[in-house]
Amino acid sequence: MTGKKIGIGIIGGGLMGREIAAALRRWPALIDHPAEPELVAVCDINPAALSFFERIDTVQLTTTDHHELLADPRVDVVYIAVRHDLHERLYVDTVRAGKALLAEKPFGIDGAAADAVVAAIDETPESFVRVSSEMPFFPGAQWAVDYVRSGALGRIVEAKCTFLHASDIDVNKPLNWKRQKQFCGEAGVLNDLGMHTWHVPLRLGWTPEKVVGILQDVVTERPGPDGTPQPCDTWDNAVIHSWARHDGAPFPLTTETKRIAPGQKNTWEFEAIGMSGGVRFSTKNPKQVEVFAFIDVPGVGREQSWQQIDAGSQSVWPTVTGPNFESGFSDAILQMWAAFLAEYVGELGDGFGCVRPDEAALTHRLFAAAIASHENGTFVTPEA
Ligand SMILES: NC(=O)c1ccc[n+]([C@@H]2O[C@H](COP(=O)([O-])OP(=O)(O)OC[C@H]3O[C@@H](n4cnc5c(N)ncnc54)[C@H](O)[C@@H]3O)[C@@H](O)[C@H]2O)c1
Repeated sequence: MTGKKIGIGIIGGGLMGREIAAALRRWPALIDHPAEPELVAVCDINPAALSFFERIDTVQLTTTDHHELLADPRVDVVYIAVRHDLHERLYVDTVRAGKALLAEKPFGIDGAAADAVVAAIDETPESFVRVSSEMPFFPGAQWAVDYVRSGALGRIVEAKCTFLHASDIDVNKPLNWKRQKQFCGEAGVLNDLGMHTWHVPLRLGWTPEKVVGILQDVVTERPGPDGTPQPCDTWDNAVIHSWARHDGAPFPLTTETKRIAPGQKNTWEFEAIGMSGGVRFSTKNPKQVEVFAFIDVPGVGREQSWQQIDAGSQSVWPTVTGPNFESGFSDAILQMWAAFLAEYVGELGDGFGCVRPDEAALTHRLFAAAIASHENGTFVTPEA
């Protein structure tokens, strides 16, 4: 099967821009995908960042001006990975230019920015925008989602989704844009990692009715460019406790986003516990999914049991990779793109999709409610 040719442009050739360029080169791993993407254009205001992309022979345009990329008719779909304070302008420009967009989280620096992008989408016929969140595309995460959707939990007891880092445990790590409110946003770590923890809960229909936020700014200064301490004024860790509903039953839903979680490197975890079943998955042990069940133990009788199952390599879109092989971060990125472009060409069906703009805008209202709760010490109902 030959897929529909789709010209991709990347704006922001930093950490994530390079990752996506690499993922697109693994496209032949996908079986019978209806799209055939090709990276044709890259924009970065820093010319040095563009040199990485020169080795990719499909790239026909490199530029330091995003307007030039957006005016290029060879570009159908744009991926944008830049500082949070730049999201609103670049996302709105992209939508208005008639290009489809895979936007990076947090989808604007705050709720007002997200709403402005949503307004541009609403005003632009046939616009197609989704937001990046790749961790749910690990095969084990997909199993967890399918397990919950199967109804096996029974009456839900509680659920949790976390995203944990620890590189900020090094107090000598230099200050960068991600650690300054003016560039990262008031929500700090929630802007950095919160989309990762809300994608699955929101997709399962678990919209919190009220939240409590517990936020920490652990490291308040970091070395600036000349080594002298500068204010590091973003929240490092944020826990949101909330009440949501599953099958009409209220339950405590917790998300944790931490830059200082000792021992963790990019760990995404999901757990849902019910009266008749439960499921757990962590990227720390990416092969393994745990499920809870009552089992008959020979010679003993009926007992409670957490069982461990290896998930293998297959996620949303089938690949040539042997089903018993392991999956990793770059596989999740490829699967996210497979879902994004399949949905773009109308072929995702009921497959798990990327974050929608309305879900992304809702995360900002959850973060604002969590911050308000932290400040006044009460439950806060997120704005509708
Ligand atoms: N999905 C994920 O797992 C994940 C991981 C890390 C970062 N992110 C998100 O990706 C985005 C970018 O993060 P990053 O780590 O790649 O940042 P980065 O700092 O590594 O790269 C950003 C790049 O954007 C360029 N840039 C700045 N202004 C520009 C402009 N006006 N036009 C074109 N290029 C411009 C910079 O020169 C830089 O090369 C952020 O929204 C961040 O939250 C997502």
